[in-house]
Amino acid sequence: MNETEFLEYVQSGGQVEATDDLPDDYRAKLIKFIEMHGNSELMGVLPEREWILRAPTLQRKLALTAKVQDEVGHSQLIYRVVEDLGKPRERCLDDLISGKSKFHNVFHYPTKTWGDVGVIAWLVDAAAIISQKALLKCSYAPYARIMKKICWEESFHILHGRDVILTLMNGTDDQRALVQEALDRWWGPLMQFHGNPIDKEDDPMYVWRIKSQGNEEARQQFLDGYVPQIWELGLSVSDPRLRKNDDGVWEYSEPDWDELKSVVTGHGPRSQDRLDLRRMARENSAWVRQVVLADVA
Ligand SMILES: [Fe+2]
Ligand SMILES: [Fe+2]
Repeated sequence: MNETEFLEYVQSGGQVEATDDLPDDYRAKLIKFIEMHGNSELMGVLPEREWILRAPTLQRKLALTAKVQDEVGHSQLIYRVVEDLGKPRERCLDDLISGKSKFHNVFHYPTKTWGDVGVIAWLVDAAAIISQKALLKCSYAPYARIMKKICWEESFHILHGRDVILTLMNGTDDQRALVQEALDRWWGPLMQFHGNPIDKEDDPMYVWRIKSQGNEEARQQFLDGYVPQIWELGLSVSDPRLRKNDDGVWEYSEPDWDELKSVVTGHGPRSQDRLDLRRMARENSAWVRQVVLADVA
């Protein structure tokens, strides 16, 4: 297949395997996209991990620990897919730590209260699962396959997050205020999460059918699924322009795209601390890799 035939094939719903001949551009785009996903799963555990020791009950501690373990497992699975495409995991970690590759905007922010734990597990995971569900149709079959397991686990994370939020909302005024304050801080990053509303036909990740939906489509789905639930719980969204029009399309204030760009290029409030921690963890565990891999080398 030449490149034009390949494009026609994936655009008509065709899927390819690791052993197929892949155009160089497609392979490079796949690596970039999937590597960022793996990085995000790995870096995403850091904000939540800070709260394991401060979880309010044993049950919450167990649930949060399990979620963090799930996310690390997702990064392992995803980095394996990148490895099959030709980029070893060690190089992915080198590029993550040096700032050469990126991770999702939402994982560059601090988790200030227990309310953040609920908002992350409920709404950040909800925003993520919308993108991940669309990857079940990815043209690269190995990635689409592992997304089944990942989506199943993510939907459980959302239940855990929703339960944390429901408990707080059924508690005291202070607890409700804690959730509202967390939601107000997370709303901006959540609205930026799916990226700027470029036409999907101009998005190379869509053209190669790595993604099966456009950015704005994903954001609309998120708003449609979750804003009614947010309102139902008695919470408010800090955007005064947010409303659903008669045609079913959500209207909202323009997200801060400059903030998104600055955050994902490593200038977020916690970007460097988190990368430092990852760097330190990697250095401290280097001897284990040396011992385990000594025979292989
Ligand atoms: Fe995950
Ligand atoms: Fe998750």
